[in-house]
Amino acid sequence: MGERPDVKVAVLISGRGSNLQALLDACAKPEFPAEIVCVISNIADAYGLERARRAGVATQVIDHKAFPTREAFDAALDTAIRAAGAELVCLAGFMRLLTPGFTKAWHGRVINIHPALLPSFKGLHTHRRALEAGVKLHGCSVHFVTADLDDGPLIVQAAVPVLDGDDEDSLAQRVLTAEHRIYPLAVKLIGEGRVHLDGRVVRVDGAADAGATLVNPIA
Ligand code: GAR
Repeated sequence: MGERPDVKVAVLISGRGSNLQALLDACAKPEFPAEIVCVISNIADAYGLERARRAGVATQVIDHKAFPTREAFDAALDTAIRAAGAELVCLAGFMRLLTPGFTKAWHGRVINIHPALLPSFKGLHTHRRALEAGVKLHGCSVHFVTADLDDGPLIVQAAVPVLDGDDEDSLAQRVLTAEHRIYPLAVKLIGEGRVHLDGRVVRVDGAADAGATLVNPIA
């Protein structure tokens, strides 16, 4: 304890940045084993940039529209992330697909938060699709990023109930609260050196089982 240096993190965003805020708040605690060294947005007026500035974290805008190809955009991201000295990249509402070249170069060092219990509901509009599918449990996942969309090894998941009368907004809010809990948890586990990739499966050293079964509805 106390000997391992904090893992240096780059956070990539495209918008509101509430997950970024959860990470900033976690990193502000002295015992938290990670430090955010830069926040990069592909959108110039993303509100998350304001959150980063308020926390005194360096920001950069890299507008994907300024690059002729996805490869060129990803090369600019790569350069900025390396220049900041980041060892771990956290996608936090970053709405661009990364190229296979990037995900290969950063294999095991890029993580994403997705608003569904993967492998269900990859892609967009996860809450609407969960409601349409009638699932009783929904949630969120933190996973390693691979070349395939929302497909990489799962690190932490949280489940929430889908309640009678939920609409997209109420369900999104319940899931978002869980996101803000598990994204810092995943970064903490990585920072503590407790996360190991074993093919498709992630092993976490010293983790306790969640224990209880979540049943919904209770009748
Ligand atoms: C979050 O719900 C995140 O899980 C989702 O976008 C939202 C960003 O909110 N990400 C994706 O859908 C990625 N495919 P935030 O900017 O407030 O963190």
